Amino acid sequence: MNREFDLVLFGATGFTGRLVAGYIAATRYGRPGAASSEKPRWAIAGRSKEKLEALGLKVPVLVADILDRPAVDAIVKRTKVACTTAGPYAKYGGALVAACAEAGTNYCDLTGEPQWMRRMIDQHHERARATGAHIVHTCGYDSIPSDIGTWAVQQEFHTRFGRYASKVTAAFGETSGGLSGGTIASAMETAREADTDRDVRKLLGNPYGLDPEPSASRPPAPDEKGISWEPHLKMFAIPFLMAQINTRVVRRAHALTGFPWGSDFVYREVMSTPGSARGLAMAAGYVGGMAGLAIAMKSPRLRGLLAKRAPQPGEGPSQETRERGYWKVRYVAEGGGDVLRYQASDGADPGYGSTAKMLGESALCLAFDQLGAPGVTTPSAAMGQRLLDRLRRAGLTFEAAG
Ligand SMILES: NC(=O)c1ccc[n+]([C@@H]2O[C@H](COP(=O)([O-])OP(=O)(O)OC[C@H]3O[C@@H](n4cnc5c(N)ncnc54)[C@H](OP(=O)(O)O)[C@@H]3O)[C@@H](O)[C@H]2O)c1
Repeated sequence: MNREFDLVLFGATGFTGRLVAGYIAATRYGRPGAASSEKPRWAIAGRSKEKLEALGLKVPVLVADILDRPAVDAIVKRTKVACTTAGPYAKYGGALVAACAEAGTNYCDLTGEPQWMRRMIDQHHERARATGAHIVHTCGYDSIPSDIGTWAVQQEFHTRFGRYASKVTAAFGETSGGLSGGTIASAMETAREADTDRDVRKLLGNPYGLDPEPSASRPPAPDEKGISWEPHLKMFAIPFLMAQINTRVVRRAHALTGFPWGSDFVYREVMSTPGSARGLAMAAGYVGGMAGLAIAMKSPRLRGLLAKRAPQPGEGPSQETRERGYWKVRYVAEGGGDVLRYQASDGADPGYGSTAKMLGESALCLAFDQLGAPGVTTPSAAMGQRLLDRLRRAGLTFEAAG
């Protein structure tokens, strides 16, 4: 594909977008095998020329309101990849996805809004398949450790035991970081839609809600409830807030790639606490806190109060909080009597420092690497091993655990 730019980044003036722009500006790994001096050809796009120029990046500035379809169309025709951090995506994302699907332009984002992803699948999957566009949502901490992590665990399981695992459990929770205004606004947007629309509530409650056929008969995979014991990790397991997004993405990846791990494959995602009395108290505290938060998010008045006290658009965790950040996910893969323990981690805060690497590398991968089938797809179904290699080179670890 011969286009003027390898990638265009929308949202660079926002909190996360500034970090992604910084990552891409500093990258040494654009095209595989390229000399380190050969930088990707990229540009930033947004609605305010002044704000974009004030970032001081020495790249072309393209002015477009992301809601202005003709202006967005004109930009996506000039680039191989459109990468966006302009969220909430349910508010700002639709025109860009539609334009990319139409123009055969690859696309990646950081959405964690399943109801919007469902709409994008229904509206654009077939067109994207026809034009060759890879539309890849959830290229950040939601859902790369889940999706690429499960894919990597399965490759390792196959190497060791000659078959795939029939069950993978991912345990989140060992992490330090913070939240930005755009993330809070996106969670509020999903809560508002769920509050007012029965179909959105139904979709959010369907473990296979992002599958090509959400009502097809599949193995039971209920969302976690309460506290359980994870014997292979010797830790307590409780519901994980982001599992309602991540589990659906892993299941969509499995369906899109033709169920390579078997029709009975089950993916489960939890949050873990230490297997001690203190860990049990922590688990009970989290479960109580999450129940309280779920009630608060159902009330427009309490949502309004929470939103006022939370970081506003453009704001996010301090540099100090981000620099102290880290994350680790533990996986247990089981099948035919065999068990593999695996882990993924990064020494950067999950939502911003590490997410900037994950989204930046996804955009570069979509611009330069060999990809899976087009359509509205997932990180593992589109990028698999290529993205795993890039993430490892960027400092993330994915490895068997002792
Ligand atoms: N999956 C993950 O792990 C993860 C991690 C971090 C963030 N996120 C998601 O990333 C998104 C961004 O979060 P954030 O905190 O960085 O948000 P933010 O600081 O509020 O930034 C929003 C960006 O969108 C741009 N924008 C808004 N309306 C626009 C329009 N009409 N035309 C063009 N640009 C427009 C803003 O541009 P202006 O400067 O012109 O207003 C700004 O650059 C959220 O949806 C969040 O949930 C996900």
